[in-house]
Amino acid sequence: MHRIMIVDDDAFVSLELSELLTAIGYDVVGMASSGKDGVEMARDVRPDLILMDVILPGEPGGIEAAEEIMSQLDIPVIFITGHTEEEFLHRAKQVEPFGYILKPFQKIQLMATIDIALNKKNLESQLRRSQKRLRQLSTYLIGVQENERKRIALELHDEVGQALSFLKLSIGSISKKLPKDQIELKNECKEISDYILQMVENVRRLSRDLSPRIVEDLGLSSALRWLIENSSQHANIETSIEMDDINSLIPKEVQVALYRIFQEAITNMVKHAKATRVSIAAKKNKAGDIFSFILKDNGVGFDLGEYMGDVSIDRGLGLTAMDERAKILGGSLEISSQVGKGTKITLSVPINKGG
Ligand SMILES: Nc1ncnc2c1ncn2[C@@H]1O[C@H](COP(=O)(O)OP(=O)(O)OP(=O)(O)O)[C@@H](O)[C@H]1O
Ligand SMILES: [Mg+2]
Repeated sequence: MHRIMIVDDDAFVSLELSELLTAIGYDVVGMASSGKDGVEMARDVRPDLILMDVILPGEPGGIEAAEEIMSQLDIPVIFITGHTEEEFLHRAKQVEPFGYILKPFQKIQLMATIDIALNKKNLESQLRRSQKRLRQLSTYLIGVQENERKRIALELHDEVGQALSFLKLSIGSISKKLPKDQIELKNECKEISDYILQMVENVRRLSRDLSPRIVEDLGLSSALRWLIENSSQHANIETSIEMDDINSLIPKEVQVALYRIFQEAITNMVKHAKATRVSIAAKKNKAGDIFSFILKDNGVGFDLGEYMGDVSIDRGLGLTAMDERAKILGGSLEISSQVGKGTKITLSVPINKGG
């Protein structure tokens, strides 16, 4: 049986409601006559639902009490209102109540409104639970991905790198053993050797992209600097970098996650933006508890609305992964982009002062 609480300063209204509710089959677990008592009682009794008069004398009023109860205690509130209280409805709407019941009460309306409210609450809780589970899953997957990347980076470096070096030596020694007049073959050896050298360079680059070692070794500031300068150089993009000292403020694991976010943002910039200028700024806020990174390019931009509405399976996952990583860090990612003007990405993360 669902447990319902009533908050109304009119004892007759409360009594009438209580009788109706009991007749319908609900358990009325408490009645309060002011906002203050209502909040206190809700805290003690923890009902499934509260019916609250929109207008209550004193502080907090009905609307403020409802707001407090819904945000702090996570208990749904339905407002009790009369036909003459139109001006309150506008304010009431802003606290997003679970419904309204009108005086004089009608059994059917009461039943339907309560039913919808309880259902909505139930759906909300389920949604929240599954969101939480999904977040746990992505945290886990990102951890797995990071370990796997590390493993592949090492393997590439050790196995493939070694094998290529061996090949290069072998070709060199074959070339040396060739008689002097075999110029054509010698030239071919040289070509193969150059090609291997290029492969070695590619493997190194791949391995470096995959491994967070650059962050671990140099710290986030230098790693970001390197990332931006290196990527921009190839694409002929002018860079400007303005960074407070981040390394001492942010723990290493978080630095790796932040680096990954920028790796994607910068890859996107190089891949999609056709920019000629990019800037990055990293700053603490005044209170010193939030660090913000702002990455701006002057490229072609894109239509975020279109991107958000696109549910096709072959759409990219980069922006989603960036957002997910930011949320896992307890931070937030804000993207604004204008077609023809460029893209701005703001990433904010809390600074853990204890750690
Ligand atoms: N800096 C940017 N400038 C212009 N367009 C961008 C920029 N960043 C992202 N976009 C647009 O947003 C889309 C989504 O980006 P997202 O990173 O999610 O996917 P992707 O880069 O296409 O694929 P993936 O990252 O999965 O390899 C891109 O396809 C591109 O059209
Ligand atoms: Mg991408």
